[in-house]
Amino acid sequence: MTTTANQLLTQFENLSATEILNHISNQFGTDAVFSTSFSKEDQVITHLIATNNLSIGLFTLDTGRLFEATYSTWDLTVAKYKINIDTYCPDAHSLQNFINQNGPNSFYESITNRKQCCQIRKVMPLQKAIANKKIWITGIRAAHSSNRRMQPIVEYDATNQIIKIHPLLHWTSTAVNQFIAAHHIPTNQLYEQGFASIGCAPCTRAIAANEDIRAGRWWWEQSKKECGLHTH
Ligand code: ADX
Ligand code: SF4
Repeated sequence: MTTTANQLLTQFENLSATEILNHISNQFGTDAVFSTSFSKEDQVITHLIATNNLSIGLFTLDTGRLFEATYSTWDLTVAKYKINIDTYCPDAHSLQNFINQNGPNSFYESITNRKQCCQIRKVMPLQKAIANKKIWITGIRAAHSSNRRMQPIVEYDATNQIIKIHPLLHWTSTAVNQFIAAHHIPTNQLYEQGFASIGCAPCTRAIAANEDIRAGRWWWEQSKKECGLHTH
């Protein structure tokens, strides 16, 4: 971890999410960006950024395979908050070559194909979105997985050479739901149909009550349930 990430960790460790976002906005302005997938957590952060008029930029990675319900949530969010959300799409040639070589749904056939699809549709666009930025804010919570439970609120992402901050890291799902209800924040309708963690449509399913939050992501794989955006 770099000195700056360490300093920010000390500074932010005991602050609320609102305080953290305010500090980031004051210290880094538009050098700080927030990635939204329109998850409940991301909607809380979007609400805080918009209602506090923070200068943090918002972006989303439109993989081209998102659920219709996710696109509807995106529309409702822009309509409610009147904010700009920068969209990053996959490189057309890379995607075209990949589909020509492997077909449209090759992610089911091998982990290599799945990772390559995630690389083209998510990781490469992410790299464009965070290029030359200093801070990348996410909606990661510790309760999402055992990997995420081990993360600090501020960390240095050596792969992308950027400081990542997770202001909701220690929020419970109850806290997220209560905040959303109290502020009438639009959420993805799939949550009412048993979905707990929502990514691309072909790679996400609803979960049963006793299943892990991320069990519905790449459910046919036994591998670590990550797509390469977050390397641990
Ligand atoms: S993933 O790595 O498994 O896809 P997850 O869905 O848990 O990630 O989301 C964690 C955080 O990653 C989100 O809070 C958001 O900051 C970011 N993220 C995930 N998917 C996207 C996306 N399509 N566009 C922008 N940010 C995303
Ligand atoms: Fe491709 Fe599935 Fe990864 Fe989306 S989650 S980029 S469809 S492999």
